[in-house]
Amino acid sequence: MIVLGIESSCDDTGVALVEDGTRIIASEVASQVARHAEFGGVVPEIAAREHLLAIEPLYQGVLQKAQISLPDVDLIAVTQGPGLIGSLLVGLSFAKALALKSGKPLIPVNHVHAHVHGALLDLPQSTSLEELFPCLALVVSGGHLNLYYMKEVNRFRLLASTIDDACGECFDKVAKLLDLGYPGGGPLERLAQAGDPLHFPMPTMMAASQDLDFSYSGLKTHVVQLIRKITNHGKDPLSPETKAHLAAAFQEEALSQIVRKLKTALQNHPDSKNILIAGGVASNQRFRELLSSLDTPAIFPPPAYCVDNGAMIAASGWHEWQSLVQAEPDFSLDQLKRFEWDGFSRYDFLATRAA
Ligand code: KG4
Ligand code: ZN
Repeated sequence: MIVLGIESSCDDTGVALVEDGTRIIASEVASQVARHAEFGGVVPEIAAREHLLAIEPLYQGVLQKAQISLPDVDLIAVTQGPGLIGSLLVGLSFAKALALKSGKPLIPVNHVHAHVHGALLDLPQSTSLEELFPCLALVVSGGHLNLYYMKEVNRFRLLASTIDDACGECFDKVAKLLDLGYPGGGPLERLAQAGDPLHFPMPTMMAASQDLDFSYSGLKTHVVQLIRKITNHGKDPLSPETKAHLAAAFQEEALSQIVRKLKTALQNHPDSKNILIAGGVASNQRFRELLSSLDTPAIFPPPAYCVDNGAMIAASGWHEWQSLVQAEPDFSLDQLKRFEWDGFSRYDFLATRAA
């Protein structure tokens, strides 16, 4: 089954064609990073307008690259939320227009769940889903930090999330303090390679907490106060060595907090066969090193698919479709030709599955 995936929830426009939830036929992303860099973060109004400019040529380019035309597509999947409403509406309206014009079925997709399904893209063909589940799944991006226990591919039981900042968001904020630009996760990781993570002791976050929730505000505040002290309240510059040490120490604790929580979650859920890890921070190499200390294997999306993209949306649409058919064998694609949902309302035809 060929699924067209459309993503526009934040500042990346993504369009992709994916076969049977795993094989990427073609995928293109138009990044708006350069457009928002001067503001140090995403400006929602600009993001929506940029999606409007990008989406049609991106869609045409993907079809052309794959040598596939719309009649060959079996299902259209689109991000319904969560996200910036102006941005979401561009993708939603575009997808609805395509579906109405072509008579193709359309399925709404949860962006955060789709990150997890992105980790199932391009797995070796011999891998069956039964081998992968039950598992833990972690979405660690600029906007989200969620940990799930998943019995099956579409059953998301939320175990924990951040009580303040998302991890990627905190990387971006600390990167800004170190003048690394936006988004700062990648540049901060590169700078950290030259630093000593033990040079500046960092607080151990959530050390006293019994639950699995994450927190980043204390770590961020610690770095802010440390920089104030080192620079004599901004009067002295930070040397390149000091910046590298700060980056390395911050990164080590930011990532170690997640690894500690994963260890506890694995103790609580010993039947977990894997940990699916997705979201922009999943591309961090030090994170991958730290995760290799766990006994349970971690599975990542291909590096280019850690950040927002259309392929994960197509994959998620396919897995949703599979679950609908499993729950109700008579469910037909025609039942997905009701387009009355929007960026606010919950869609009711996706059965609420017990996690
Ligand atoms: O998944 P994504 O596109 O964002 C959301 O959907 O929210 O991920 C972007 C986030 C940014 O915060 C970025 O700084 C962070 O992922 N990021 C990284 C790295 N590459 C991207 N954080 C740490 N290390 C990296 N190498
Ligand atoms: Zn995302």
